[in-house]
Amino acid sequence: MAYKLSLTSTSITHLQIPKSHTHFLQPTPILPSSSSPSTKLQRSNLNSLRKSSVCINSLKQETLQNPTVTPLTSSNKLVLVIGGTGGVGQLVVASLLDRDVKLRLLLRNPEKATTLFGEQEDEKLQVVKGDTRNSEDLDPSMFEGVTHVICCTGTTAFPSRRWDGDNTPERVDWEGVRNLVSALPRSLSRIILVSSVGVTKSNELPWSIMNLFGVLKYKKMGEDFVINSGLPYTIIRPGRLTDGPYTSYDLNTLLKATAGERRAVVIGQGDKLVGEVSRLVVAEACVQALDIDFTEGQIYEINSVPGDGPGSDTEKWKELFKGAQLQ
Ligand SMILES: NC(=O)c1ccc[n+]([C@@H]2O[C@H](COP(=O)([O-])OP(=O)(O)OC[C@H]3O[C@@H](n4cnc5c(N)ncnc54)[C@H](OP(=O)(O)O)[C@@H]3O)[C@@H](O)[C@H]2O)c1
Repeated sequence: MAYKLSLTSTSITHLQIPKSHTHFLQPTPILPSSSSPSTKLQRSNLNSLRKSSVCINSLKQETLQNPTVTPLTSSNKLVLVIGGTGGVGQLVVASLLDRDVKLRLLLRNPEKATTLFGEQEDEKLQVVKGDTRNSEDLDPSMFEGVTHVICCTGTTAFPSRRWDGDNTPERVDWEGVRNLVSALPRSLSRIILVSSVGVTKSNELPWSIMNLFGVLKYKKMGEDFVINSGLPYTIIRPGRLTDGPYTSYDLNTLLKATAGERRAVVIGQGDKLVGEVSRLVVAEACVQALDIDFTEGQIYEINSVPGDGPGSDTEKWKELFKGAQLQ
């Protein structure tokens, strides 16, 4: 069967996660992959992928020393990550790989997966080529077997090299999200969309400055499309992103904001939260929300502050999400 996509596998050497933050990825015993039936997509590409060692051993060694964590088990989930080469996306992918959750990445440049995540078995990680701005790229075969989606695509709020080829907020945060959501199977168990704080206040200072080129407006349009799609969703609205891989050439990157030990998590609702958040915390929130039923249909703002955080303890994340809903 011909697919408008390609699977790639490459040699992976390391994950670009700052050493200072690897502690956030808490111990998760690695369980054998479940033996769900292979999809045509998987079968058709199985032989094209080479096997190699997983690049996250150092993370596992570090995190396995902490016995207090609630293990996230592998399951029959197949999580599609869009934006997996980005700052948050890389951390989402790393975290899911560490949890032995099956992954598919939708990337504009599949070769990047090799650099970032190394060579993975087809059962663990598949890469398909696509640009969310082009609906014709989003062939239904890409979504075959997908149970959950985490979308962390984005571009810079202000003109930059990342707008090259018309990769603007309008095209990515609105049209890209619309195209993606329109193409997703109705059987999906959850879509997690990473958006932004301030989207409901884009005409008010200081948000109107950030929104000069429409990023907040278009993110809100993307959110609304997800909400009205009928798909089970969770929207995560981060504050200003700190730490993590600096893949973005926006103001934050230029300022090189550092998060230090920003692990304590603050979650709110109603777009009232203002502050910063570690990319690691955002990634963990996305991963945790996948499995916490009551986060379905909810929108959360998220910040992080210095102090001890929930790590990957699901019970603590449940308390945080629930606490936000009660406020
Ligand atoms: N920076 C902040 O302070 C801030 C604050 C609040 C919310 N956010 C939002 O949080 C999210 C994550 O931010 P981040 O800094 O981790 O993102 P990032 O590093 O800028 O990564 C963006 C990702 O989106 C992908 N992408 C861009 N255009 C695409 C397209 N047309 N088709 C498919 N993929 C595309 C990029 O892939 P390529 O490798 O192909 O470029 C990359 O993987 C974004 O939605 C961002 O807007 C950011």
